Amino acid sequence: MGIFLQVIEKMRGEWSEDTINDRPYRAMYSSLIGGIILDPALMVVQMDDHMVHRGHAVFDTAMIMNGYLYDLDSHLDRFLKSASAAKISPPYPRETLKGIIVLLAAASELMSGSIRYWLSAGPGNFSLSPPTIQKPAFYSVAIATKFHRMPEGVKVITSKIPMKPPRFATMKTVNYLPNVLSKMEAEEEGAYASIWVDDQGFVAEGPNCNIAFVSKERELLLPKPDKILHGCTAKRLLLLASRLIKRGSLKGVAVRDIAIEEAKDSAEMLLVSSLIPVMAVVNWDGEPIGDDLCMTEKFWFISRLSVSNDCEACPLEIEGGGHCVELRDCRT
Ligand SMILES: Cc1ncc(COP(=O)(O)O)c(C=O)c1O
Repeated sequence: MGIFLQVIEKMRGEWSEDTINDRPYRAMYSSLIGGIILDPALMVVQMDDHMVHRGHAVFDTAMIMNGYLYDLDSHLDRFLKSASAAKISPPYPRETLKGIIVLLAAASELMSGSIRYWLSAGPGNFSLSPPTIQKPAFYSVAIATKFHRMPEGVKVITSKIPMKPPRFATMKTVNYLPNVLSKMEAEEEGAYASIWVDDQGFVAEGPNCNIAFVSKERELLLPKPDKILHGCTAKRLLLLASRLIKRGSLKGVAVRDIAIEEAKDSAEMLLVSSLIPVMAVVNWDGEPIGDDLCMTEKFWFISRLSVSNDCEACPLEIEGGGHCVELRDCRT
């Protein structure tokens, strides 16, 4: 027992019994256990899980903003699409997965954070083929996250790391090595992110974000989602843009191929992802991009999508709304 407690203590790392409430990982669900784990030392995945040694797993996220779980259905749709493309059958039906994620988010007591969840081929052996004895596993973790807006904008570079082929770029699997190397390549050059450009010279996406542009003719432009991850935030952006069109500050939206020359000549460039959710790019490959950093539209997008306290009001009144689950109701 003494040794066992010592091992648990080591696995807790820097989080002692006294500081455990400050830990970023607040709660984990594992289908192998069938319950919620609160001790970070026990938030582990087995070494023989195919997610670990073969990368045979898919994942997705959802943000907790002001005590609301944001846009979960859209993320769950993509999650299950990725699972099907990776030939992983979820151990539970969709509504059960959703219920677990909502309960986990509520159990975490986080007002601001992220929920990450994975479907793995599961543990059982070290072969290439999925294990047959055990079923696929579902894991989810609630993480305290602070959102940094960076209103001054960020710098990006064009990535030299090869893009994933479309079949793999369009599913959200745990195979993120190209994305990791692309992010590291950017950081090594003092940039926030690297941008992939495909072999035909069309802009694609960043390592963990989509990209969007506002043309000088005031049109919102997004690359087609056939070679990149179809972002839930990018979909929201398209919905929200309809308001700007009604207000006359945008002329229209288009989802199409965008050549790098056209992209670099935009009035604005934005990084778009659940974690950001919208961030201005002001410099690309050492050259300034965009002619107005503080444009009203940009702030409009940010205020509508960001962690400001309008999550409750905003998504519900947009067409196709109902994007928030209030977690307070699930804690009782
Ligand atoms: C490669 C990649 N592209 C785009 C995105 C943006 O997707 P979303 O808006 O759904 O967060 C992500 C986010 O995880 C990503 O990893």
